[in-house]
Formats: sequence, structure tokens, C-alpha cells
Amino acid sequence: MLSLIDKLEKNRCLSLDEYRYLIDNRDGTAADELARRAVRIRREIYGNTVFIRGLIEISNICKNDCIYCGIRRSNHSCDRYRLNPREISDCVDEGYSLGFRTFVLQGGEDEYFSDDVVCDIIRGIKNKYPDCAVTLSLGERGRESYKRMYDAGADRYLLRHETADRAHYNKLHPKEMSFDNRMECLKNLREIGYQVGCGFMVGSPYQTGAELAKDLKFIEGFKPDMCGIGPFVPHRDTPFAGEKQGTVELTCYLISIIRLIYPPVLLPATTALGTIHPLGREAGIKAGANVVMPNLSPVAARKKYELYNNKICTGEESAQCVSCLKDRMKSIGYEVVTDRGDIRKIERR
Ligand code: SAM
Ligand code: FES
Repeated sequence: MLSLIDKLEKNRCLSLDEYRYLIDNRDGTAADELARRAVRIRREIYGNTVFIRGLIEISNICKNDCIYCGIRRSNHSCDRYRLNPREISDCVDEGYSLGFRTFVLQGGEDEYFSDDVVCDIIRGIKNKYPDCAVTLSLGERGRESYKRMYDAGADRYLLRHETADRAHYNKLHPKEMSFDNRMECLKNLREIGYQVGCGFMVGSPYQTGAELAKDLKFIEGFKPDMCGIGPFVPHRDTPFAGEKQGTVELTCYLISIIRLIYPPVLLPATTALGTIHPLGREAGIKAGANVVMPNLSPVAARKKYELYNNKICTGEESAQCVSCLKDRMKSIGYEVVTDRGDIRKIERR
């Protein structure tokens, strides 16, 4: 095991079988060793800083029907909402005054958010706050659409690949959704010039070490600027309601491996991680993550953007969420910084 970890750190890559071995044979010693090395490399590049991104959940209306997701169109118990451009710009104003310099606009695939509407919102933010980065997380769109939003000023795009295994993808999504299209979108985003984030859920139904090994191999090749991984958490009104949730242990283990595969990657300690354990986000940072994403959505919207059961931060005001996270990071020796937090691609080793 140790020789495999040495090899990973040295070469930044392993074979599929080796990744699988690393996952299937993990124990506490391997996890500690990976985390120690991941934290050391992260520290060389980013010091003890943690970047914050202000997450604005702009709509829970979605035309898709991902089987795991609480805002899937078949969930008729979901209380739907969308923010209008004015409400979004109010969230940005508040976030700016709280020190945010990156805003993440995330939502279901809501047709109200046409290219024209989104481009106006992006231009509004960039004109008012040219020192800020705008990240979009609006799902699958055509290449032209991505290009228009990029030309309007969007800097980054988060689109989790969800799983790098086609058969697994087909078990998590309805027939009309396609693995190839998801991958095509990521390719288009990269070619257009976005800083691109991929990612996957840990412990999703039907996932084994074999699928996770493929995720790691994909990340090794794609070298995403950001990589969002968080535990799968069931939602009571989806077909996966009775499935087991992912664990902090495996999520943190994979965070450490991903840091070693691609040291500069921006890795969030996700809200889902904080949901399944009170100190989940701290554990993520201690495993090698370097980003947290406090919620800036209006409080009235937060409970409605319920992707999974018991999501945290749904009752807090934005300012509370920010100071909570700053305190949490401080308690483990990290400092939240308020710059755009771009990827630092120059490896210092
Ligand atoms: N519609 C956009 C998209 O598909 O990229 C952005 C919103 S989508 C809800 C954001 C992410 O939430 C998904 O990529 C998925 O990985 C995650 N997610 C959805 N349901 C989840 C669940 N039950 N547990 C954990 N994460 C979940
Ligand atoms: Fe939202 Fe702690 S981060 S309340």
C-alpha cells in the first residue's frame, strides 16, 4: 500500500487496477498517510488559506429527472421557486459586502434562464464588480450557449460528470439523459476557455471501487480546475430514498487522492459532507480540500433547494453562514481569504 502511495505522489497517476486496489484495501493508516501528503502539497501551493465561494441557488425548477436528486421533475412534493434577476443581484450585493469575490450561480435546468437572461445577469455582476469571478452551475447546455455566457463574462463552470462509467451513469439517470452528452459538455466548456469543474457523488447507488477507479482515471486525464465531490445523501421523495448514504471516511480518502493526482485543483469541502457529519467540512479540509461554499441564497429559498435530506445551512442568514465557516476553518488552523481564488497552476515542487 505504501509503495502505491509513493508511486501516486511521484507519478501523479496510477493504473485503473492500482486505483481500485487503493480504494478496496484502504484502512486508517493509508488514509492518514494520503491525507498527510495531500495537506503538505496543498500547503505548498495555497498555504493555510481556504477560498470561499458564495453559492446562490437561483432555481429549483428542473426539466431533468436524475434519479438521485430531490429537485428532479418527477418530485411533485418539491415546492418550486426561481429567483428573478433583481433578487440574484441583491444576493450578490450582500455577498460582496461580506467579502465574497466569487459567486456561483447554481440551479436546476430551468428554461426561464435562457442565454439572454443569464448573459444579462452575468454582465450586471461583472460591470458592477469587475474584481469578481462568476461561476455557473446550470447543467447541460449547447456549445453556443456556453460560448455566449463565456463571452458575457462568466469565468468558471461546474458540471459534475457524476460518474465516469457509462453503465453506472445509466443507472443513475433516466433514458433520455446521456453520458456522452455530459462528457461532450465538459469538453466544450474546456475548449471555450472556462475554468472547468467536474466531480461525482461518493457512495451513490451501484458504485463500487471499480467505478470510483474510473472517476479517478478520468480526473487524472481531464485535470479539472475544480472538482466537487461529496457524499450521496438520499432524498425521501426519490426512487433512491431507501439507499445508503456515502461516508465521510471514503469522501475524505478520495479528496486526498485527487489532491495527489492533480495538486493545484480547487477542491471544495462540500455542504453534503457537512450534512452527514457536524464536522464533515473540517474533515474535508484536513484531507486536502481548500474551498468552502457558504450559502448566499435568500433564506426563504434555501429549504426549497433540497437536493437531499437534512441539508444544512437552510435556516441561517448569509452573514451567519460566512462567520460560521470562518470560525470553523480557524478552529482547524486555516484562514478564509477573500480573493477570487483562482487555480494556481504552477506547481511548487
Ligand atoms: N443542474 C446542475 C447540474 O446538473 O450540474 C446543477 C445543480 S445539481 C442539483 C448539483 C449537484 O448536486 C449534482 O451535480 C449532484 O452531484 C448533486 N446532487 C444531487 N442530488 C444529490 C444527492 N441526493 N446527494 C448528494 N448530491 C446530490
Ligand atoms: Fe452555513 Fe455554518 S456554514 S451555518
